[in-house]
Amino acid sequence: MNCLWSLSILMGYLSPILVAAFEDEETNCFALHDNACPNANISFWLYTKSNPQGKLLSLFTIRKKDFLPLKPLRLLIHGFNGNRSLSPNAQLRHRLLDLEDNVISLDYQKLAYEPCYSEAVHNAKYVGQCIAHLLTMLLDNELVQSEDIHLIGFGLGAHVAGFAGNFLSNNKLEHITALDPAKPLYLVNDTAQKLDPSDAKFVDVIHTDVMMLGLLDPVGHVDFYLNMGVTQPNCGPVNEMDTHYCYHNRAADYYGESIASPTGFYGFYCPNFKSYASGLCVPKKDIQLMGINVEPEARGRYFMDTNNSPPYAKGHDYSHLNRELKGRTYMNDDIIEKLFEGKA
Ligand SMILES: *[C@@H]1O[C@H](CO)[C@@H](O)[C@H](O)[C@H]1NC(C)=O
Ligand SMILES: *[C@@H]1O[C@H](CO)[C@@H](O)[C@H](O)[C@H]1NC(C)=O
Ligand SMILES: *[C@@H]1O[C@H](CO)[C@@H](O)[C@H](O)[C@H]1NC(C)=O
Repeated sequence: MNCLWSLSILMGYLSPILVAAFEDEETNCFALHDNACPNANISFWLYTKSNPQGKLLSLFTIRKKDFLPLKPLRLLIHGFNGNRSLSPNAQLRHRLLDLEDNVISLDYQKLAYEPCYSEAVHNAKYVGQCIAHLLTMLLDNELVQSEDIHLIGFGLGAHVAGFAGNFLSNNKLEHITALDPAKPLYLVNDTAQKLDPSDAKFVDVIHTDVMMLGLLDPVGHVDFYLNMGVTQPNCGPVNEMDTHYCYHNRAADYYGESIASPTGFYGFYCPNFKSYASGLCVPKKDIQLMGINVEPEARGRYFMDTNNSPPYAKGHDYSHLNRELKGRTYMNDDIIEKLFEGKA
């Protein structure tokens, strides 16, 4: 990670021009020029309980017998510098296979690698469009039912899922789960350029690194903030970049745990971040379960803390809530105050 890029995302409100100028010095960054799909750099791998190693899907010949009939289809979308083995695949896939779901892991690593972030953001739209193409084929061939389709995207992959939703407008996506949706270059107002609630009938979001790699503002029908989305336990000192990668990845860890958690991650409602931090919201009756069994009617912002190590879920135990911000971020109090003046 180069310093300029780190510094610019550190500021949260980074200048796209600054990032672009820096990346121009890199020679090997690759930006797609068209929406050709199938594309050699966008591959889809199908996993089922009987085929846990995965099988490359050909978009030319999709075979019905490879899919388990009448089961949910979970499509996992990695983030920047990821691949089909990394977040959220590592945390979720084996657990989803235990549920006997059909799992497709998308791999677009050659379109989203370090240090080519602005190219990755550019490519994300085309990757989303290719997902829409695949889903249309699966639906047309009656391999999957529309209401069984669930996209789960991590970081940049959350916006990729949103783009898939945009390109599937006639056949609206059922469900998108966004695991710490990426912030850099996504602090835009235009919802066509990022994940938003119009991208699926239900969009649920988990925030775990709102100060750096993930978005602070809500972008779903329901947005869960774990440990305020500010820090996650046992990740390291607050001012280091690796610590933030750990916070960011933790969204996928929590979601993975939710698949088989006997305890459950329950958040309580609070209309905004500032009210939460100042203790105005208390856990009363408006409680929602986060994770794979989220209630599709859930709306608004929910907050909860976690245990310091796995299992992270605390159920309905709200006895040790930490609403303190001091010492939990690299930002000084003035900046925090400014941040929360807005709609946050
Ligand atoms: C994904 O990336 C990791 C770390 O770079 C690497 O070890 C692994 O082989 C990659 N997996 C695939 C499927 O590309
Ligand atoms: C795939 O990505 C590489 C760069 O990572 C690029 O050189 C190549 O042209 C791309 N191929 C296609 C079909 O887009
Ligand atoms: C987004 O909208 C707000 C108010 O609606 C405005 O103050 C802000 O400048 C806009 N930001 C961008 C990047 O356009």
